[in-house]
Amino acid sequence: MIRLEQVTKRYGDAVAVDGLTFEVPEGEVCVLIGPSGCGKTTTLRMINRLIEPTSGHIFVGDRDVMSVTPEELRRGLGYAIQSVGLFPHLSVAENIMTVPKLLKWDRKRMEERVEELLTLVGLPPEEYAGKYPRQLSGGEGQRVGVARALAADPPVLLMDEPFGAVDPLNRERLQTEFARIQRSLRKTVIFVTHDVDEAIRLADHIALMRDGRLQQYATPEEILDHPANKFVHDFMGADRALKRLGRVRVSEAMRTAVPSLSGGRSPQELSTRAACADTRFVYLTDADGRLEGWFDCHAVEIGTTAEDAVTLVDWRDDAVRPDTSLKEALSRMLGHGYRSIAVTDLTGHLLGDVAFSAVEAAMSDSDERMAAAHDAREGAASDEGSVPE
Ligand SMILES: Nc1ncnc2c1ncn2[C@@H]1O[C@H](COP(=O)(O)OP(=O)(O)O)[C@@H](O)[C@H]1O
Ligand SMILES: [Mg+2]
Repeated sequence: MIRLEQVTKRYGDAVAVDGLTFEVPEGEVCVLIGPSGCGKTTTLRMINRLIEPTSGHIFVGDRDVMSVTPEELRRGLGYAIQSVGLFPHLSVAENIMTVPKLLKWDRKRMEERVEELLTLVGLPPEEYAGKYPRQLSGGEGQRVGVARALAADPPVLLMDEPFGAVDPLNRERLQTEFARIQRSLRKTVIFVTHDVDEAIRLADHIALMRDGRLQQYATPEEILDHPANKFVHDFMGADRALKRLGRVRVSEAMRTAVPSLSGGRSPQELSTRAACADTRFVYLTDADGRLEGWFDCHAVEIGTTAEDAVTLVDWRDDAVRPDTSLKEALSRMLGHGYRSIAVTDLTGHLLGDVAFSAVEAAMSDSDERMAAAHDAREGAASDEGSVPE
C-alpha cells in the first residue's frame, strides 16, 4: 500500500506538487498521468526519498517514509526510469545484480535470479547476460531496467515512463509483458506515463494530474465514462469507445477452431482443400504448428493458381498474442488491411484468429456495459461532476 496525504513540493515560489492525496491498494497498478511538467517525476522521487516533500506525508506499507532511512526504504522499492540508467561499464547480469549485491546475496543465488529475470522479461539469458548496455536496443535496455528494478523482489515498484524510449510496436509488446508479469507477481506499482492508451491498458486506477494537482483518481472505465472536469475529458481524448478496447484482451474475442493446413502443401493439396473449405481463408503452418501464412480459397475459385493464392507472413508482425489488447489487434488489422488477424503463442504456434466483426461486437458490448453501469449509478445517486456531451 502507498498513501500520499496532502503532499506538496515547492521550489522557491513555484509549486511542483500541490496537496496531492491518494492511496494505491496493495497489489494494484496506479498509473500517474498528465502533461509534461505536471509533477509526476517529482511525486515518484518523493516516494523513494530522492527528494523530500515541503509538507505532507507519504506512507509505504504502514511506515511514514520519513521515519525510515533512504537506504532501508529503497531496498523495498524497485525504481525503473525512462533513461534506463544502466551502468555502461557493467554487463547486463552485473547491472541486474546491483541491489542483490548490496544485500550481500551469495553468487549462486544472484546468478539464478539473473537467469530467472531475463527469462521473465523475454531476453534469453545465454544471449543477453554477458552483453553490455551499448549492445542493446532501446527496448532491450528498458527490459533490463525493469529486470533490475525487480531484482531483489521488492513489494513496491516505481516506474517513470519505463517504456518511453521504445517504438510503438515494441512498446505494445513491453506493455503486454508487463501486464502478464504483474498478473503473477501482484506488486504495488506506481507507473508514470503521458500516454493515455498505456494508462488505460495497464492501470487498476489512474491518477490524472495537472499543474501539480490531482484532477481525478478513478478506474480507467470511470475516468473514460465520467471525467471529473473538462480538462480530464479533453486529456482522455475523443475516441473513448476505441480506447476502452485497450482493456479487452484478444483471448476474450478470439475464435480457436480455425481451418488450417500443416506441413507440406503441394498445389494439389491446396486446391483439394480449397474445394471443401467452408471459409475463405485456410491458415498454413509448419509441421510444428507455427504460422507460416494463409491460403485464399476464394482466389482459387476465381482462377488464381494455388501458389498465387498463398500469402506467406512473419508471425511476429502479422499475428497477435492472446494477451494483446483488442485495440492493438484492431490497429494491426487496419494497418495491414485484414478482416481478421491470426493469433499465435509467443513462439508462433497458431492458436486461432480474431475477426473484425468480433472487435465490433466487443465494442458494442463494452458500450452496453458502460451504459448499464451508468444507469445504475444515475439511479443510485446524483451524478455530479461528469461532463455533459
Ligand atoms: N529541481 C527543481 N528545481 C526547480 N523546479 C523543478 C525542479 N524539479 C522539477 N521542477 C519543476 O517542477 C514541475 C514538475 O516537474 P516534474 O515532476 O519533472 O514533471 P513531469 O515529470 O510531470 O514532467 C515542473 O514545472 C518542473 O520545472
Ligand atoms: Mg517526468
